[in-house]
Amino acid sequence: MSRTRPATVTRAPSAQASSSAPVPDAEPYRVTSEFYDLLHRSRYRRKAQRELASLARSARAGILEVGAGTGIVTEVLAESTSVPVHAVEPSRPMRAVLLSRWAGSTPMRRHVRVYPEPVQELRPIEPVDLMVCVNFVDALPPPTRDRLWSTARAMLRPGGLLVVDRTGPAPVRPTTLSTVDVGDTRYEVSVVASPIAGSRCLRWTFHYRVTAPGGAAREEFESFDLWPVDEAELRAEVSSAGLTAGPERPGLLVFRR
Ligand SMILES: C[S@@+](CC[C@H](N)C(=O)[O-])C[C@H]1O[C@@H](n2cnc3c(N)ncnc32)[C@H](O)[C@@H]1O
Repeated sequence: MSRTRPATVTRAPSAQASSSAPVPDAEPYRVTSEFYDLLHRSRYRRKAQRELASLARSARAGILEVGAGTGIVTEVLAESTSVPVHAVEPSRPMRAVLLSRWAGSTPMRRHVRVYPEPVQELRPIEPVDLMVCVNFVDALPPPTRDRLWSTARAMLRPGGLLVVDRTGPAPVRPTTLSTVDVGDTRYEVSVVASPIAGSRCLRWTFHYRVTAPGGAAREEFESFDLWPVDEAELRAEVSSAGLTAGPERPGLLVFRR
């Protein structure tokens, strides 16, 4: 799943999309994990190199990444530092990709630790000086977000940084995010976010389309109910948890313990 600013509008606005959006899967990422790296890796990796690698290079104690997914960002963090990188990822299908990423690398296996519990159940780890939340915060309802900020307060050393990525507007029209060819087969993902009656959540529905030569297509859908949070609200919540505004960075909100 990608929630960064979509690139191309492919179809007209669709009221149908909102009424026909499937409900979220009982096992989140069951569908998406197959496609995530293929369709998002190159863009996410470049973004992480641009925005996070230098922060990771400055870490002296450890780095905690929450909502690590398949480990695209984790890998950039781990490549940029020799301190431990703690990756929290509760979804089994996403974690399967995350763990497989280190299978071929003994140095990375020494360097990275993977935690299967959600952040609100994470037991204390050794203090870190950088905590990273990318493409993830809107997965949490407000009370769990508060737990995230109190985790930052508890796990960061004094002076340590919490970084959260800035997200673009929700795609109110079906929007293509990425297209990649593997051999003669084309993989494509598009997304649309629809309101849910009586809820502050938006239902983001991802549509994966796999087209073989001759035009035969496999289509898969997965929805996620996400909690939009604007920058002012987020800043206020983090401040209530006892962190202060940190050095400004493009693409990131930065807070200091
Ligand atoms: C959109 S993915 C982003 C993955 C990665 N940060 C990236 O940018 O590629 C969001 C991830 O947050 C994880 N997540 C959702 N709720 C969580 C929670 N309560 N604690 C930790 N991670 C969570 C999901 O399982 C998912 O892998």
